[in-house]
Amino acid sequence: MDPEDLREVISAYQKCVADTVRHYDGFVAKYMGDGVLVYFGYPQAHEDDAERAVRAGLEIVAAITALKSNVLLQTRVGIATGLVVVGDLIGSGASQEQAIVGETPNLAARLQGIAEPNVVVIAEGTRKLLGNLFELEDLGAKDLKGIAGPARGWAVLRPASIEGRFDAFHATGLTELVGREEELEILLRRWSKAKSGEGQVVLLSGEPGIGKSRLTAALLERLAAEPHTRLRNFCSPQHTDSALYPIIGQIERAAGFRHNDAPQAKLDKLDALLAQSSTSPNDAALLAEMLSLPNDGRYPGLELTSPERREKTLETLVSQVTTVARQNPLLMIFEDAHWADPTSLELFGRIADKIPNLRVLLIVTYRPEFNPPWIGRPYVAALTLNRLGGREVDAMIDRVAGNKHLSVDLRQDIIGRTDGIPLFVEEMTKAVLEADSQSAAERTAAAIPSSALAVPATLHASLMARLDRLGPAKEIAQIGSAIGREFSHALLAAVVSKPEAELGLALDRLIAAGLLSRQGLPPHASYLFKHALVQDAAYGTLLRGRRQELHARIGKVFEQQFPDSVGIQPEILAHHYTEAGLAEIAIGYWQNAGEYALRRSANAEAAAHLSKAIALVATLPASAARNREELSLQMALGSAIRANTGHASAETLHVYTRARELLDDSVPLKEQMAVLYGLWAVDVTRANNERALEVGQQSLAIAARHDDSEASAFANRMTGVSRLVMGDFAVAAEHLERVVTLFEPGAPNVTDLRYSQDHAVFSLTMLALTLFPRGYPQQAAIASAKSLSWAHRIEHAMSVGFALSFGSVLNGFVGADVLEGGQHSVRALAYCVEHDLKAYIPWSRFYHGLALARRGEIRQGIDLMNDGIAGAERISMNMLQPAHLGHLALIHASAGDQEAGLRLLDQAVRMAKETEERVFEAELYRLRGEILIQSQRTAEAETAFYSALAQARQRQAMMWELRSAMSMARLWRDQGKRQQAHDLLAPVYGWFTEGFDTLDLKEAKALLEQLKA
Ligand SMILES: Nc1ncnc2c1ncn2[C@@H]1O[C@H](COP(=O)(O)OP(=O)(O)OP(=O)(O)O)[C@@H](O)[C@H]1O
Ligand SMILES: [Mg+2]
Repeated sequence: MDPEDLREVISAYQKCVADTVRHYDGFVAKYMGDGVLVYFGYPQAHEDDAERAVRAGLEIVAAITALKSNVLLQTRVGIATGLVVVGDLIGSGASQEQAIVGETPNLAARLQGIAEPNVVVIAEGTRKLLGNLFELEDLGAKDLKGIAGPARGWAVLRPASIEGRFDAFHATGLTELVGREEELEILLRRWSKAKSGEGQVVLLSGEPGIGKSRLTAALLERLAAEPHTRLRNFCSPQHTDSALYPIIGQIERAAGFRHNDAPQAKLDKLDALLAQSSTSPNDAALLAEMLSLPNDGRYPGLELTSPERREKTLETLVSQVTTVARQNPLLMIFEDAHWADPTSLELFGRIADKIPNLRVLLIVTYRPEFNPPWIGRPYVAALTLNRLGGREVDAMIDRVAGNKHLSVDLRQDIIGRTDGIPLFVEEMTKAVLEADSQSAAERTAAAIPSSALAVPATLHASLMARLDRLGPAKEIAQIGSAIGREFSHALLAAVVSKPEAELGLALDRLIAAGLLSRQGLPPHASYLFKHALVQDAAYGTLLRGRRQELHARIGKVFEQQFPDSVGIQPEILAHHYTEAGLAEIAIGYWQNAGEYALRRSANAEAAAHLSKAIALVATLPASAARNREELSLQMALGSAIRANTGHASAETLHVYTRARELLDDSVPLKEQMAVLYGLWAVDVTRANNERALEVGQQSLAIAARHDDSEASAFANRMTGVSRLVMGDFAVAAEHLERVVTLFEPGAPNVTDLRYSQDHAVFSLTMLALTLFPRGYPQQAAIASAKSLSWAHRIEHAMSVGFALSFGSVLNGFVGADVLEGGQHSVRALAYCVEHDLKAYIPWSRFYHGLALARRGEIRQGIDLMNDGIAGAERISMNMLQPAHLGHLALIHASAGDQEAGLRLLDQAVRMAKETEERVFEAELYRLRGEILIQSQRTAEAETAFYSALAQARQRQAMMWELRSAMSMARLWRDQGKRQQAHDLLAPVYGWFTEGFDTLDLKEAKALLEQLKA
């Protein structure tokens, strides 16, 4: 081929590409040898960029094939969709081009490489944006050079014959209609009027995705069973200048044209269609021409000027409508009138003029930017669709999610970010479900925080289109998006540094475009992004460097010009400095925010702020100082979490466990103890007894290295209580007595009473619980009473609550209310409720129930006891749960339900074994034996008593041994083994030195005398 010809061919081909691309508003980025790189969506995005790209590709292939040339010309097209960063111009003159960063162009080039000649191949990502707009052929997954993982390609065969965009994107079914009852009602009423001969027009408007098409679809569903004719005309964003495009499409679909029909065949189909409305040959000729079908001689030749032809065509189309409406009620839908070409608009104007006398309902749908010329006529109703309410959105999420589970947080996120726009709800929900089905590992690898969901790819183009239409105002939207969903004029002005007039214009533009709403007047105005997703999209267009710079500037402006709000809302500054990448400054503000919230008891907020600070600390280089900082944050977080989720929740445990890992010798003793005590308290409450004991022992070791009574008191408290619950009564007593000697009642108590109980109150209360099982009932009662009266003296609610609650435990052990003249359970419950001592309320309900039941009010008692047990479970208060189950078992048995009693005891014993809680274990066996005797299962009862005796002896728990011995002695007595019974009981009773007026000892004495006789 001679070079001249070649040049000509190349220039023809380039012109052909350039013309087509321009028509679809694409951008020729560069010519590379025989290739061209084209962008759609840059510099101006459209919601249908993917579709534009494919249409352009198909047209380029067709146009180049049709080029006249003496060589064979072939084209291959590859299309991919994704984000790229378009940088500055590089180079100069003709070789100037824009720097592009991103994988997408590479993928498109590779797909072009695998395309057959004259075929358009698209990537999977592009396909997802196209619905059913095109007929495609799956080329399968291929390994492409430079592309990670196999990539799936699709060959585009041709545009599909579909009924409009809405149908193309909903081939697989609609989300069931939510709400919109009233609107549907209005449409149905207008339809009945129309049917009776009073034609109606309904102008249905609303922002993109609000549900205009869905509502018309709902009407069509409702009318499915009624005889009527439908004419649906769809405008298209790429055909705003193609005369009568929506009408042509409607006729082609109605006639049933196929893509490979010969013109002849199409004419036959058209004739068949037109015969139904007895169309004249002249009219048919006009319509055939409108459809660009050649007149093969079947119609008369028309000698018309082009204005005449236009006029006659419109007349024909109007008369088609009147004819059809005479045969049947007619429902006409004119979709997306904002994209209508001028001729179609004129046509519908003429139809609207005729409508009052026709059996026609015409529904025109459009977005707010369109102003329909027909408003104001009596038979024209305007209907604007509003956003859905929160409950409706929730219902929509359910319907989209089907049986897949969405966490409450995600659901809230979706509701918050989609602002009641059904399209956003659908797409966000689908995107979330998709992301959710990725493995958790993938997600962490990609570091997608669950609360910052990305804008779904399916919405990206339409949101970007809205921003790109703004011109220079887009930058203001971007800056606003960095400030937040809402921002004040003053702050924006300070950050933007542009002349006020220019800023004002840009803001007006944003408001006019429906992206912002304004409250008040500048300079006191504030602005709100109407859609959270528009804000997200605008923010998403900012590159990282620019974002960081903006956030840093916003932070500075706050500090310098709005110092007041810094004090009240440090979290805002914290957020901006976090996003600015200035972790150290941000940590300080998060900490302030957390502490400020803690002071206002806004515990959930405090926990959120402090957690953010902790996450940032983790990004700093490791050092001792970093650990100290994290530790103090974890401690503050501990208070917030404990108040928020309960002092024994898994979350609280997590915080203290982490805090303990951060301990080293450089940490002040007081803080070390606070951490260990915090951790121990969670563990002992949750009945993680082994670990609680280990923490106690670590504390003892630390305290031993320092001469500090406070630390020693805490360490002995922990170890003492852990030993007690594990049944080492004597060792427990030693530790607790040490605390009492360090801090006698009335001694200056240096404890920080905010987080704990008074040392003396605490240790005396717990000491009583070791004294009683060990066989010192009188000393136990005295210690308990002393601790209670001291607690009341210092009027410290946590101490009083503690003394009352564990006083109840003592009453439970004793089997009678020995404290406060028998009024204990009533007082305890009242006090805990009055002071809102959440941790103690379940126990006080339980013990009040126990007291009632022991007095004979069994039903009410059992209810309260169950209530208390369930309440304790809810706050993970597992400590002493076996004892409580034991008490409940006995009550059930005494009410005649031995089976229930035995079941509860089995549960209690299992729990005691699992948790190593031995404090009440001997009693559990004994109670089991007692209930078995009631059921005449004496052999088993005897075994149970043996177990009880063995346990009691092993623990040196004389009171439990005395009780077991009495139970066994009674059994033997009834079997005639009186001597044996006496010999068992006598030495145990003989051991006692006090408490001879208690029930246990009085009964033992009576029994012994009876056995001697
Ligand atoms: N009330 C609703 N109940 C359930 N789904 C709905 C409801 N309204 C809208 N949808 C769904 O939300 C999506 C967007 O609705 P639709 O396409 O009807 O919006 P539109 O107003 O026609 O938007 P456009 O201006 O882009 O044409 C669709 O998938 C639709 O099925
Ligand atoms: Mg629509």
